[in-house]
Amino acid sequence: MHKQGVAAFVLAAWSFASCAVQAQDSIERGRYLVEGILTCGNCHSPRAPGGVVDSTRLYSGGPQTWDEPAFTVKGSNITPDLDTGIGRWSAEWFLARTLGRPRVVAGDLGVRKAVGTAYFGGRMPTESEVRTATEHWGAAAGVAQQLLLNTLVSPDRTVPPTP
Ligand code: HEC
Repeated sequence: MHKQGVAAFVLAAWSFASCAVQAQDSIERGRYLVEGILTCGNCHSPRAPGGVVDSTRLYSGGPQTWDEPAFTVKGSNITPDLDTGIGRWSAEWFLARTLGRPRVVAGDLGVRKAVGTAYFGGRMPTESEVRTATEHWGAAAGVAQQLLLNTLVSPDRTVPPTP
């Protein structure tokens, strides 16, 4: 191999290795934040006998319910599962909010609640029920979704107009 070829190869190998190290660093940092600092699993994971977090079903939904006057919520399933977890949720928000696509983020809990109130008499619909119920929104999906999400804000949480 010529000297230049060797140099290019070494440079390519070094930059590949450095990207891999950076990606690994991000994963480690994410794990540190999620498991060590923010302890997402405390609310989002089922419990094994004795009340400890069930490490075989991490992030598949917590047992507690927060029943407040303004809302009743549970630590939801935040695994990547398409049917029961977050699924395509974050990718769809990216399409809707960042790329301006007329996309209904049917797996999002807020969207499901708002569509449930508007179309299902308050029952929480599944992701596919949301897709079917909102099909007629068509190109107006982005605006319709935003308007419907605003209905989730309870009156006592609205900001009063400035005099
Ligand atoms: C104190 C309990 C608690 C902790 C800790 C917590 N969450 Fe949550 N989380 C909730 C509850 C309750 C909901 C459901 C809210 C609702 O129904 O409106 C939720 C909802 C979510 C959702 C939306 C799920 C969906 O289907 O739309 C995501 C994503 C999420 N949490 C991620 C996280 C991450 C990541 C962490 C750690 C950084 C975390 N949560 C820590 C209680 C918690």
